[in-house]
Amino acid sequence: MSATLWTNIGELTTNVARDGDACGTLRDAAVLARDGLIAWVGSARDAPSPGSDTKVVDAAGRALLPGFVDSHTHLVFGGDRADEFEARMAGRPYSAGGIHRTVAATRAAGEGELRERLAGFLRELHRQGTTTVEIKTGYGLTADDEERLARLAAEVTDEVTFLGAHVIPQEYAEDRSGYLDLVCGPMLERCAPLAKWIDVFCEDGAFTGVEARLVLEAGVARGLAPRVHGNQLGEGPGVALAVGLGAASVDHCTFLSDADVGLLAASDTVATLLPGVEFSTRQPYPDARRLIDAGVTVALASDCNPGSSFTSSMPLMIALAVREMGMTVAEAVWAATAGGARALRRSDVGAIATGTKADVLLLDAPTRTHLAYRPGVPIVAAVWKDGEPAA
Ligand code: NIG
Ligand code: FE
Repeated sequence: MSATLWTNIGELTTNVARDGDACGTLRDAAVLARDGLIAWVGSARDAPSPGSDTKVVDAAGRALLPGFVDSHTHLVFGGDRADEFEARMAGRPYSAGGIHRTVAATRAAGEGELRERLAGFLRELHRQGTTTVEIKTGYGLTADDEERLARLAAEVTDEVTFLGAHVIPQEYAEDRSGYLDLVCGPMLERCAPLAKWIDVFCEDGAFTGVEARLVLEAGVARGLAPRVHGNQLGEGPGVALAVGLGAASVDHCTFLSDADVGLLAASDTVATLLPGVEFSTRQPYPDARRLIDAGVTVALASDCNPGSSFTSSMPLMIALAVREMGMTVAEAVWAATAGGARALRRSDVGAIATGTKADVLLLDAPTRTHLAYRPGVPIVAAVWKDGEPAA
């Protein structure tokens, strides 16, 4: 049995809504965790007295919040594409074509190299407060390579997404239907046992709405749950497809019609916004205000990948969402924690409440506002995952 009591918390974000405050904010609070789960939450003066097995953490008036839930990353890959970033900053537009370069580098990389790199990224994101991470395949695009990426991802997270339908690989450029058969057949067979989710990049230059539906339905038939990359580079069928299939999330949502917003608002599908992409591609940021005002559930995620967003920083996503996307600090912090949990259909993370996982982070700051107010400053002081120190 191990227990931790965090006390003297200046501002506690619980994400248990009360009195119109979705963040369920408590002041002068305390939290007790036992055996990896939250056991008690309340006012510091009512805190249970610590037993001999209890570690006491004096928060000294600082802010404590749920660990970030990064519901969209592509963390298993070889190489990088810094040259493309440089070219974009000089005025060249982003194109999905660069994915082929990462596919080549990933296929050429050894398994040990990919595993070590992934472990490095995980250390990086833990240090920045992320305690739950989703990881996609999608840079292998052969049955062997996709299975290898799914296996590596499954070594470090339960949230593995099969993204064989990322782009049509170059060797299938003249045979789209042949590649779709591979994705929906042998590749899916190999990856499904390792994955929870199926995703597809539904966009000009990747997969059409009709093709994307085919892939998602094959995944669902094989026991995977759907999510969609859509509406990143222009309006398109991604949102309608995701909502129609009851997908947990449609990610990017940069270009939306009024009909798309209406569909999302009437659904359980989360709109996951990825502002690292707009930062790194100079595209316009998605309009989070429009979505939230329409009643859509919004999540924030990093989309960490070597092409469109090579950052794993959830604090940066919060800062960008507040500065560029019309979100309040409370909305952005909720979206990076509880919103990410909704996007992964999880109720055991993204909140600090009796029975949730003891995934928490302590800021070197009195309030969560400092996440946006002090952009680029490493204010995450300490992180616990399952009640144990993670960074
Ligand atoms: O989510 N949109 C598709 N896939 C990634 C980009 C991948 C890349 O450029 O390597 C994304 O932005
Ligand atoms: Fe992505």
